[in-house]
Amino acid sequence: MSVSGDPGSPGRPARPPRTAAVIPAAGRGVRFGPGAPKQLRALGGTPMLVHAVRAMAGSRAVSLVVVVAPADGVAEVRRVLDEHPLSGRTEVAVVPGGDTRQESVRLGLAALPDDVSIVLVHDAARPLVPVDTVDAVIAAVRDGAPAVVPALPVTDTVKQVEPRTGDRAGEPEPVVGTPERAVLRAVQTPQGFDRATLVAAHEKTGVDGDGATDDAGMVERLGGEVVVVPGHEEAFKVTRPLDMVLAEAVLARRRRAHGFA
Ligand code: CTP
Ligand code: MG
Repeated sequence: MSVSGDPGSPGRPARPPRTAAVIPAAGRGVRFGPGAPKQLRALGGTPMLVHAVRAMAGSRAVSLVVVVAPADGVAEVRRVLDEHPLSGRTEVAVVPGGDTRQESVRLGLAALPDDVSIVLVHDAARPLVPVDTVDAVIAAVRDGAPAVVPALPVTDTVKQVEPRTGDRAGEPEPVVGTPERAVLRAVQTPQGFDRATLVAAHEKTGVDGDGATDDAGMVERLGGEVVVVPGHEEAFKVTRPLDMVLAEAVLARRRRAHGFA
């Protein structure tokens, strides 16, 4: 097993390894359109980021959440989080992020205290991931997997094309292949890692263009083992305005079912 916790001592039970969540929330939400960055927009009256923080803190295993804010927005994010305190004991830190998601995650990892040995990385833009999914990811890391990704079978057939971009955007794109759908999975967050594995991946991977949007992909490219556990349809990412319509509907359904959320 690659994850070390406190082995305990005679008469004292072993303590599980400490788990923290890093939430990259430093993006500008270009695809969402003009206005406030999407992670600070209200979902059911509460900023999307607050939902994402609660989703992580909802797991009993998570004792620290590090929110990575836009470099010029740390004070605003801190204020938003202070206005929506957590009910439990989970600590919430805010650190400045970078120009790419990869850089923001790296800066979040750098802020973790030494005793954290399991790290979740969770998009602020996935506000509604259920706690059972979070716990399943943590459990797989505790069981010895160095990198764990929640994912769902793909429902659309996917084509590989020769993309037409720039001046040629909108032209018909030649198809070069159709991967067998049954072996494809669409990945979500939180992705869970043995801390040392993720830190090493970030140290060894340079930022190329927009950087890596998938932390597990970085581990994979370095030859590390990555496994998939079942994701959840409510863990979808809010990318475009229509996703917010769905998020509002999911939240309203939860509130009808449970009387809260
Ligand atoms: N993110 C980040 N730092 C960046 C870019 C993205 O912390 N420099 C975060 C976003 O805030 C988001 C998550 O990474 O929570 C997933 O990224 P995405 O959905 O692409 O959000 P944005 O980058 O904000 O959106 P867009 O790509 O449309 O601009
Ligand atoms: Mg982005």
